[in-house]
Amino acid sequence: MSKTKQMASDLMAWVDARLPVTSAYEKHMSKYYAPKNVNWWYVFGLLAMVMFINQILSGIWLTMSYVPSGEEAFASVEYIMRDVEWGWLIRYMHSTGASFFFLVVYLHMFRGILYGSYQKPRELIWLFGMLVYLVMMAEGFMGYILPWGNMSYWGAQVIISLFGAVPYIGEGLTEWIRGDYLISGITLNRFFALHVIALPLVLALLIVLHILALHEVGSNNPDGIEIKKKLDKYGVPLDGVPFHPYFTIGKIPYVAIFLMVFCGVLFFFPEGGGYFIEKPNFEPANGLKTPEHIAPVWYYGAFYAMLRAVTFDLFFIDAKLLGVIVMAGAIAILFVLPWLDRSPVKSWRYKGWMSKVAIVLFAISFAILTFLGTQPATVLYTYMAQFFTVVYFAFFIGMPFYTKAEKCKPVPERIPE
Ligand code: HEM
Repeated sequence: MSKTKQMASDLMAWVDARLPVTSAYEKHMSKYYAPKNVNWWYVFGLLAMVMFINQILSGIWLTMSYVPSGEEAFASVEYIMRDVEWGWLIRYMHSTGASFFFLVVYLHMFRGILYGSYQKPRELIWLFGMLVYLVMMAEGFMGYILPWGNMSYWGAQVIISLFGAVPYIGEGLTEWIRGDYLISGITLNRFFALHVIALPLVLALLIVLHILALHEVGSNNPDGIEIKKKLDKYGVPLDGVPFHPYFTIGKIPYVAIFLMVFCGVLFFFPEGGGYFIEKPNFEPANGLKTPEHIAPVWYYGAFYAMLRAVTFDLFFIDAKLLGVIVMAGAIAILFVLPWLDRSPVKSWRYKGWMSKVAIVLFAISFAILTFLGTQPATVLYTYMAQFFTVVYFAFFIGMPFYTKAEKCKPVPERIPE
């Protein structure tokens, strides 16, 4: 061994005796065996990480010029867009980036549903994922207030007022969240603090827990075969491939294609025709001028559509509270998904026709609800939202029954060639 190599190896041994760098690298990279049949659906976890890093980096640079006060926030964003060098790019990386972040996370979650990746033994991965998703929703909402445009103001007004529907404590609760009798610079300040430091820290921690839980049990795959059940004489899964270098290198082309699409949108279509940054947000916040049609950004659309779909009282519960319950229920039910699926197989490839139809209907209803949530609530759209809300819930509530009743195909013991 050359002298330099010897020194490097001595140094590594010194570090390893104090911090388990080599064993962590082996556990999570070179000796982490991923199923050899994972397909392109498996790139969205990595892309979610790429987008998380994009949000953190662009966010740090935005914070250098943004002023979190009711008087100056709007003008400071205009200053970033016009006067700060590359400020427009940094801003769009963050605002358009948020839409891409949600898009890849939605596809990532849907992959989990397709292949039953939430099933035993991966329930904790799913639960940490759902917590990530919940925190992402709060993070996006608080970020949307910061430019202090008119939709920031009125969007916050609508969402915070929902807490007012909680019986007895509702009014006190909204005042506590706002920190004022109406939405003001005080609200903006606290949302800034939560958006730039508190929630990103929680998100980072949850992502680490998500990955640790994944690496404990190993990745699922499109066939839902547990590769750890068939090992060679060294204890290595027969159908597994080391994560590094096969997946690290193998995923580079996918990341490159994704970044090209992202850059294309950033440079040529950054506001997404009003879907990524809504038109009223180019006007400063004005408590006396309600935008004609208040709508959330598209990634909250489905849940907002379900909230608005409730136009009637039920027994002693008024429509507003019922809408909030339906909306919260639509998110909450995703948490218990691992315990609703009673199928003996994981992937939809081997499930019966009822699960397949249910998954397709679920995806269609979620997409249509997303669209409806961004549109004005006309009579037709309200009926449609009611119908698809029922379809959405039927997917989950019916799951324990149709997954038990249907006939599944036999799952091969080894991953098919
Ligand atoms: C910031 C957001 C997230 C990041 C960075 C992230 C990251 C990852 C990564 C890198 C993987 C392994 C690669 C892959 O399977 O694609 C993974 C797997 C997984 N994630 Fe996430 N994730 C995020 C959000 C979520 C959410 C919201 C859910 C669902 C509620 C979720 C559920 C899962 C599941 C079930 C797996 C295991 C998939 C399998 O083995 O088939 N993740 N995640």
